[in-house]
Amino acid sequence: MKEKVEKKERVISGKPAEDDSSLDSSLRPRRLADYIGQDRVKENLKIAIAAAQKRGEALDHILFYGPPGLGKTTLAYILAAEMGVNIKNTSGPAIARPGDIAAILTNLRPDDIVFIDEIHRLSHVVEEVLYPAMEDYAIDLMMGKGPGARSLRLSLPRFTLVGATTRYALLSAPLRDRFGSVYRLDFYEEGAIGEILVRSSRILKVPAEDGGIAEIARRARGTPRVANRLLRRVRDYAEVKAGGTVSRDVAREALTRLEVDEIGLDQIDHKVLKTIIEKFDGGPVGLETIAASISEEADTIMDVYEPYLLQLGFLDRTPRGRVATRLAYEHLGLRYPKGQGAQANAQPKLWAE
Ligand code: ADE
Repeated sequence: MKEKVEKKERVISGKPAEDDSSLDSSLRPRRLADYIGQDRVKENLKIAIAAAQKRGEALDHILFYGPPGLGKTTLAYILAAEMGVNIKNTSGPAIARPGDIAAILTNLRPDDIVFIDEIHRLSHVVEEVLYPAMEDYAIDLMMGKGPGARSLRLSLPRFTLVGATTRYALLSAPLRDRFGSVYRLDFYEEGAIGEILVRSSRILKVPAEDGGIAEIARRARGTPRVANRLLRRVRDYAEVKAGGTVSRDVAREALTRLEVDEIGLDQIDHKVLKTIIEKFDGGPVGLETIAASISEEADTIMDVYEPYLLQLGFLDRTPRGRVATRLAYEHLGLRYPKGQGAQANAQPKLWAE
């Protein structure tokens, strides 16, 4: 039998870790005015909130997508707070049967928010319940079985569905089409991450110097959840080894010990890039093949590692697979072979020139 290998927890993962939950909730901004970054999304939400309030209606259904740790759940809670409504928090995998979603929907108060995280993981039968719920504020209950079965339409209060996903492409088209607005969350600018860290260090009462904040911000992969996790790990180190203050040197030492490099890459990022470069001559190589070579889940690479490597320009996605770029070679201190780019990016010819 294949033994389940315990994975060391990754400090740079945007996915929530077990000890993040209490931290996340104390640091999470509660109102839009306290939310740093994602300015375009914030502006649009402000308008949507003001318009809904003016009309005295529920917000339109909203979908947030983007890599983990960027604030999708936080924004759902902020929407509820700004609208002064309740929020019911659930997730795709938690809603196993149509009855589970029906139970949630039939217990709502008018204008409530239903937040479904990992909404791409809803089963087809559950999605089918959501369609009329989202569109007509109704669910169709099946009474009885076989030829005598009848469907009974039950109306629901108006509500807002807020969906979140790391995989927009996996959402079915009918579900996607039922959201009134769709927002992509991008990685944060380093400056915004710095501001978030200053705010968090105040809340956590961690004495932090500008240099220490900057050092953590640079390695936080543009992801608030990672930034806050690194801050907490650096704080531990500072308390034990350096009198408690997060200075630049303390941050640098702590992060080096955590094997987070100068730009926030960890051992797995390095493995991904080295595998492409050393085992597959720089690519192109399929994601599944990379995952198998380093014994990681393809989903984890796709959700956690790849988005940041793409953002840095270290990886390219081509129709034939992933390719390591010149920047990746340079970051790892490897020589970029002559003619590599031209060869890797060559497209198969589909017609005669
Ligand atoms: N903590 C985590 N994410 C945040 C954000 N976007 N703004 C302020 N504080 C945060």
